[in-house]
Amino acid sequence: MTAYLDKNPNMSFVATVHGKVVGAVLAGTDGRRGYLQHLAVDEGYRGQRIGKTLVEKVTAAFAHIGISKTHLFVNTENEQAQKFYQSMGWEVRQEVKMYSFNSSANLDI
Ligand SMILES: CC(C)(COP(=O)(O)OP(=O)(O)OC[C@H]1O[C@@H](n2cnc3c(N)ncnc32)[C@H](O)[C@@H]1OP(=O)(O)O)[C@@H](O)C(=O)NCCC(=O)NCCS
Repeated sequence: MTAYLDKNPNMSFVATVHGKVVGAVLAGTDGRRGYLQHLAVDEGYRGQRIGKTLVEKVTAAFAHIGISKTHLFVNTENEQAQKFYQSMGWEVRQEVKMYSFNSSANLDI
């Protein structure tokens, strides 16, 4: 995790309340596109625009270095996150499929 943050400085953020972390977003770039890897807000602090603010911080950080397009993955069962992103203007990519390859015997992808 530290290596990812070192390679993608100033693109990931935490939200704190009285010193307690209540939200976090992990993001980085390949130099061309932005990738929002993980986002979570503590259940007790949801619905206060913390998630929205964290996402806006990420897209602003990418815009600052000339990256205007950001991608992310959302599980199809995670309706809450889908509503969240769509409310902020993120578009579902119907034409893209995710492919994974697993070289280990573990069949879980
Ligand atoms: C998704 C998540 C990050 C949203 O965080 P949040 O701080 O509660 O969201 P915000 O308060 O910033 O919401 C912004 C807008 O998103 C929409 N929204 C957020 N949660 C929603 C929900 N459960 N249902 C419908 N719309 C929702 C609303 O339109 C909201 O705007 P409003 O405040 O004007 O109503 C949070 O629910 C979470 O941590 N979920 C579990 C982890 C997760 O699913 N992460 C994303 C996977 S990539």
